[in-house]
Amino acid sequence: MPDLAGLTVAVLGGTGPQGRGLVRRWAAAGISVVVGSRAAERAVETAAELAAATGGEVRGMANAEAAAAGDVVLLAVPYEGHADLVRAMAAALAGKIVVDCVNPLGFDKQGPFALAVAGGSAAQEAAALLPDSTVVAAFHHVSAALLDDSSVGAVDCDVLVLGDDREATDLVRSMADVVPGMRGVYGGRLRNAHQVEAFTANLIAINRRYQAHAGLRVTDI
Ligand SMILES: NC(=O)c1ccc[n+]([C@@H]2O[C@H](COP(=O)([O-])OP(=O)(O)OC[C@H]3O[C@@H](n4cnc5c(N)ncnc54)[C@H](OP(=O)(O)O)[C@@H]3O)[C@@H](O)[C@H]2O)c1
Repeated sequence: MPDLAGLTVAVLGGTGPQGRGLVRRWAAAGISVVVGSRAAERAVETAAELAAATGGEVRGMANAEAAAAGDVVLLAVPYEGHADLVRAMAAALAGKIVVDCVNPLGFDKQGPFALAVAGGSAAQEAAALLPDSTVVAAFHHVSAALLDDSSVGAVDCDVLVLGDDREATDLVRSMADVVPGMRGVYGGRLRNAHQVEAFTANLIAINRRYQAHAGLRVTDI
């Protein structure tokens, strides 16, 4: 598996539950992490909190600086803000691996549902806007509530990792493997990201019915 030593991972939108949770786990695993935010002071505050909680190296800065600082950059913002953020960061993200965990979902009286996405999936839309980056889709099904809970030792789930570049998907799989309980599993080419993003609606429905933080496990591999 690829060696993550010396790697800096930046998380744009790292002040939200999903970004915070992954920052917490990567910092605890000894990876150097940067929290990005639209407001640098929010990023600095979150970074200080997570550095103190994990003993890891966590810095906070505005999204543009974070994108420039990361070797690998995770997009952890709502789908509503995703395309605008990606467009604005395109130059800073050139030549980098960009990990997209964004789930385009809607909610109505019947609960969660997958949105129709013009570009196929959020990850494909990012790839179309970032021709000079390598986009990988991953971490869609991991519960932020578990990730960001310091009393949860192992986050018991598989992480589907999709992309068109073997080296990039291997690296991102290893970013899942460093979290206790978690395993990165190759899940196909980026064109298959839609159903992975959409399946999160099913997981949220499961969570609501069973009062759980359900995850996914792939058997027989
Ligand atoms: N929550 C989960 O359990 C979970 C699990 C898997 C995947 N995801 C996906 O991960 C992403 C983040 O989830 P979350 O629950 O952490 O979301 P969130 O709290 O709604 O947003 C995360 C951060 O994004 C920034 N943000 C909000 N609106 C924005 C906009 N219009 N443009 C740019 N930045 C904006 C905010 O940071 P600043 O205000 O500091 O900039 C916010 O703290 C979502 O796409 C979600 O589908 C979530």
